[in-house]
Amino acid sequence: SDLISAKQLQGKRVFIRADLNVPQDDAGNITEDTRIRASVPAIRDAQQAGAAVMVTSHLGRPTEGEFKPEDSLAPVAKRLSELLGSEVKLVADWVDGVDVQPGQVVLLENCRLNKGEKKNSDELAQKIAKLCDIYVNDAFGTAHRAEATTYGVAKFAPVACAGPLLAAELDALGKALNQPARPLVAIVAGSKVSTKLTILKTLAEKVDNLIVGGGIANTFMLAAGLKIGKSLAEPDLVDDAKAIIELMAKRGASVPIPTDVVVGKEFSPTAAATVKAAADVADDDMIFDIGPETAATLAEQLGRAGTIVWNGPVGVFEFDQFGRGTETLARAIAASPGFSIAGGGDTLAAIAKYNIADKVGYISTGGGAFLEFLEGKTLPAVEILLQRAQ
Ligand code: 3PG
Repeated sequence: SDLISAKQLQGKRVFIRADLNVPQDDAGNITEDTRIRASVPAIRDAQQAGAAVMVTSHLGRPTEGEFKPEDSLAPVAKRLSELLGSEVKLVADWVDGVDVQPGQVVLLENCRLNKGEKKNSDELAQKIAKLCDIYVNDAFGTAHRAEATTYGVAKFAPVACAGPLLAAELDALGKALNQPARPLVAIVAGSKVSTKLTILKTLAEKVDNLIVGGGIANTFMLAAGLKIGKSLAEPDLVDDAKAIIELMAKRGASVPIPTDVVVGKEFSPTAAATVKAAADVADDDMIFDIGPETAATLAEQLGRAGTIVWNGPVGVFEFDQFGRGTETLARAIAASPGFSIAGGGDTLAAIAKYNIADKVGYISTGGGAFLEFLEGKTLPAVEILLQRAQ
């Protein structure tokens, strides 16, 4: 809660752990730079305050000590230079010392190349802590990892604090889940219940409406006694789905089960799409989207929501003929007066496809971290900062 002022940053050596883990194409061009842009405010503020700024991030999952060109943050340094309007030099070997002047920003090469980073070695964390006066963790996307630059260094640095992006993420997610304006509606969609079972169980205790989609919805349809043909589902989790439906009903809350669906006979971009009542799915059908009646009902619920948490598209939206359900819900979220928060790679792709980014209340930069927050877990990188604050 204590804020560090610009004056306190002046002349200080500031080490910022950001999450600059962005996708690149085979030629090394950055294909999506949201995380870099989201990291700029902390870096710019520190630079403008006259700090000597060291920034690092991981990129991918390289092997420690084995540098390969594709592991390099060089493309990120270039993009960061453009965004800041001043050159950001990339420093290859930095653990034993970094030459950086007040008002200058340097990018320290992929921190996961350092031995001990992933394992959160104290020895490495202590060395990194010695590089700086102030350690700033602004990497929400990596807050679920306890590594040397996200956890260990926070124990040893003279001062350790959260950066503005990390703070904003925690604020938005906390507001949506812990003090939501009601009704609180969550969309949890994706191919498998198993990967999101903890989230479903956690949210079933909190939300007023739990909208399920994708393969997850298919398992819930099985739980509701419907046939789903050849659709992707996890029959061994039907009992878990039933328990969630029952728990929600007991709380006076609901898990809306699709009343109609869009089916195809094969998973392909050219597969023909047919709308069917949920009760009419044939043995050789595969459900690839919610139907228009279901989408309209859910859109209406989203329109009345006080808070919306969105993770996952409700259909195979990459194929337009199976994208209408996701598009309808995306537009309903955009139009809803409720506060909305969205996160996860596929969700961000849907937001981009339907061009609604400026109408979503908060878009998280977290993938796994966003999911773990929804699971109700304490993120280790946040936990250690809280400990330090005490
Ligand atoms: C992410 O992309 O979700 C984060 O950058 C974390 O990456 P990781 O799963 O390799 O730790």
